[in-house]
Amino acid sequence: MPEIAVVGSLNLDTTVRVSRLPLPGETVLGSSHFDDTGGKGANQAVAAARLGRSVAMVGMVGGDDAGGRLLESLGSDGVDTTAVAIGGQASSGIAVITVDDAGENMIVVDPGANAMFLPDVLDEVADPVKAAVVVLVQLEIPLETVAAAVAMATGTVVLNPAPAAELDHAVLSAVDVLVPNATELARLTGSRIPASPSEAIAMARQLDGPRAIVVTLGADGAVVVSSSDEAHVPAPRIDPVDPTAAGDAFCGGLGDALVRGDSLQEAVHWAVRCGAVAATRWGAQGSLPTKDEVLTLEGAG
Ligand code: RIB
Repeated sequence: MPEIAVVGSLNLDTTVRVSRLPLPGETVLGSSHFDDTGGKGANQAVAAARLGRSVAMVGMVGGDDAGGRLLESLGSDGVDTTAVAIGGQASSGIAVITVDDAGENMIVVDPGANAMFLPDVLDEVADPVKAAVVVLVQLEIPLETVAAAVAMATGTVVLNPAPAAELDHAVLSAVDVLVPNATELARLTGSRIPASPSEAIAMARQLDGPRAIVVTLGADGAVVVSSSDEAHVPAPRIDPVDPTAAGDAFCGGLGDALVRGDSLQEAVHWAVRCGAVAATRWGAQGSLPTKDEVLTLEGAG
């Protein structure tokens, strides 16, 4: 059985580079575009696999060419795809991404087959979820499937609540480590986006349910909050070009370190470095680093 099971989405991404992001109703001209394999779930699976973990992907693709490409790409990174269901008539998920010159992005996802990954389908492919040491979950699949996955997991459950959504207390209570970014934390607490690491710590303290909360803060690194822990972990200084998969690299790195037996704070130091390397490169899975690339990144964090 794998060390890490990832329950989540698989998408084909198209990224357009723009000088600035469009306003509502506005058209802007891009300078270039490229395709990459993506999806928050698949990205986290590849992130952990490139760091050396045995990983099983649990999710759903369509019975189209894109689905074949998504499975093949995961396989080439050594991710076990036998628990990825294939929805015959469905289209695979796609994402349209714009990234501006300042390294900010916008993402729109058409979930396709990811939205058909309902609890009865999960039941048919659930073995890795029940057996893995760490289970990584995100919110690009139906929330009822997320609830079923966190309930059946026996290992450490890491939930990345992206894209932001309201979550039942029963789901939050089954989570060992919740990993929101600042926007997602604001949504979960019904507050404004935290303006500083100390504000993020105070807001994370309001959340009831998860055993620990790790808030990712981009260039400000991350904060860790639990009953026994409270810390700000700074990020290495880098020149970011594309933040698309930085959060996924972070979650994959966190899972890798937790399997190794690191403390949560040690794991967050490692995860921050994984996210930082990904942000210096273009694309989703194309940006995810190997262990050596993370180790040789210079700077604090
Ligand atoms: O987290 C980044 C991912 O979000 C992209 O790869 C895109 O597919 C969307 O799911």
